[in-house]
Amino acid sequence: MKTEIVKIENIEAERERAALQRAGILLRQGGLVVFPTETVYGLGADATDANAAKKIYAAKGRPSDNPLIVHVAAPEDAEQYASVPPLYWRLAETFMPGPLTVIMPVKESIPKTVTAGLSTVAIRCPSHPVAHALLLAAGVPIAAPSANLSGSPSPTCAAHVIDDMNGRVDMILDGGDCDIGVESTIVKIEPDETLTLLRPGGITQEMLEAVAGKIQIAEAVLGSLPEGAVALSPGMKYRHYAPRAPLFLLDGTAAQMADYIKQQTGRVAMLCYEEERTIFETFLKADRCFSLGERKNRKRQAQRLFFLLREIDKLNFDAIYAPLPPTDDIGMALYNRMIRAAAHHIVHLQEGM
Ligand code: TXA
Ligand code: MG
Repeated sequence: MKTEIVKIENIEAERERAALQRAGILLRQGGLVVFPTETVYGLGADATDANAAKKIYAAKGRPSDNPLIVHVAAPEDAEQYASVPPLYWRLAETFMPGPLTVIMPVKESIPKTVTAGLSTVAIRCPSHPVAHALLLAAGVPIAAPSANLSGSPSPTCAAHVIDDMNGRVDMILDGGDCDIGVESTIVKIEPDETLTLLRPGGITQEMLEAVAGKIQIAEAVLGSLPEGAVALSPGMKYRHYAPRAPLFLLDGTAAQMADYIKQQTGRVAMLCYEEERTIFETFLKADRCFSLGERKNRKRQAQRLFFLLREIDKLNFDAIYAPLPPTDDIGMALYNRMIRAAAHHIVHLQEGM
């Protein structure tokens, strides 16, 4: 399939408006269009068309038992596709449009291919202007997972989309780099109107609790490692967002990490905080040290994580090491993605190791 790739810099410009109209028509005709969102790029199809949705699974190589998120132009559109409880409106008022996905009971307008046969549907109203313009041009809700091949880190820039999706989709809208860099926060509204956090993201637990009161955190969010686990934990079945080279998360000080990495053989790469880069550069070549951003700037780290994992992967390292992040605030999203990318390989470094 020939993929049309179009840069969208200004949605008001004539050339861009025409491209968005073409993209809207492609979607209504059952085609696949990749588009930028504020979180990561999405691989979109008409969410009301079972055959179009099927093409998404084929293009990604995704198992068909993993449901898709339905993107809508306005929060109130949710009512056409879901039985909307009052708590949804409170969440929508504060967080939509934006990086929040809400799971609610599904209505018949959404085919089973999209929900993987579940009785619920995931609804999200993205804030990215190109995503919004595309939803308006299409006039249909857009089912979209992240636009990566299944198992790889989500793409946060057009170059990474092209690496995975060129030739597999009808059109790619290049809207530059994504702001948030990790996928949306997913919450489920339970029958008793409480919230469960299924996937952490840019809308944090603290932000949600300010609106919805105490929320439950699904066990899978922070993983379930045995108490006091030392060294490596296997668990390849949890490998997601994964680079080809194995990733190991180091729990310790920069000095402890440096001592540990010095003992490793092979071509190794280090993902580190900007302030600590010089420590690693004393023994690793500069082109093997990759800065996640400043230690305190966790938004920046979240934005860079998938980008860096994909770039590092092109350089064929034998192993990648990174600091284990803290779990509060947006750190929870970072921690959640990193333990999956690392297949739960966490190395706890002890004093004097
Ligand atoms: O930021 C995002 O959410 C991006 C952009 C493109 O919007 N999309 C995204 O989609 O990350 P995807 O398919 O990569 O992740 C969606 C997640 C999957 O883990 C899926 O299992 C879950 O949402 N999901 C979808 N519908 C669900 C449902 N009804 N119940 C439980 N989980 C659901
Ligand atoms: Mg994904």
